[in-house]
Amino acid sequence: MQIFFLTVLLAASPVADDAALQASLERGEQLFAMTCATGYCHAVGGGAGGGGARLAARGFTQDYIRTVATEGRAGTAMPGFKDRLSAAELDAVVAYVATLNGIERPDIGAAGDAAATAVSALSEPAEKGRVLFHDSLRGFARCATCHQVRGSGVPAAEPITRVPADARELHALATPNVATVTIEGESMPGLVVSRGERGVLFYDLTLPPPVLRTVAAGGVAIEPGSRWRHADVIRSYSDAELLLILEYLREISP
Ligand code: HEC
Repeated sequence: MQIFFLTVLLAASPVADDAALQASLERGEQLFAMTCATGYCHAVGGGAGGGGARLAARGFTQDYIRTVATEGRAGTAMPGFKDRLSAAELDAVVAYVATLNGIERPDIGAAGDAAATAVSALSEPAEKGRVLFHDSLRGFARCATCHQVRGSGVPAAEPITRVPADARELHALATPNVATVTIEGESMPGLVVSRGERGVLFYDLTLPPPVLRTVAAGGVAIEPGSRWRHADVIRSYSDAELLLILEYLREISP
């Protein structure tokens, strides 16, 4: 009887809150990588080394982070993001940067509502698959390094439309759009995004994460086919984990 009572207590809302918090922080981390840790701005993970300020372990309060991220800082290269990100996206990024400053349970505001809806709609295996897909401990070996799902992750590859039936099929996945791109005698696997008169835009898949590159149309040769193998980039996942991920992709596919 007592044990039963305890289980019910544990299953109450804190667990759902944790899932929403984790989902918003993952989203915040991805948005940070795509929006803030680019070019000459902040370094990935908020550490030193970007052209912009270090953001981790500065003792910033969440209010301060929110103000600077929203409005920018006059007289510096830091722009305000209130017109560039949605309210939920801003909340997610602010919450993520707050965690870099030692705030363990930041306020997730609108990001929490979005995450809670997304989380609650999934079955238990699919929810596990979602976490694996975005698994930040795996570094660049996670699916979200190259795939965007529900607005989260990096959109190097086209949106996943055909979900493989099982792990074997996923391992055997053909990648018809990956070509061999040669620039100045150097060849690399590339996913061409656009080819115009002025230039070719492609993702260099040599090493994850894919790097978006532009080259003048005259200076590049593109041949169909490549030695690049999708199976190599998903090696860190076991078949059981891949099945959970496929379940997730099935549940969210329209
Ligand atoms: C390093 C980059 C990278 C990683 C990591 C990666 N993929 Fe991919 N994936 C691609 C590329 C590039 C394509 C598209 C190839 C093409 O169109 O020729 C692709 C295609 C796919 C497709 C086919 C989509 C369709 O609609 O045809 C599926 C399914 C897929 N990936 C699932 C996954 C899963 C699941 C993971 C994680 C376990 C993962 N990928 C990890 C780069 C990656």
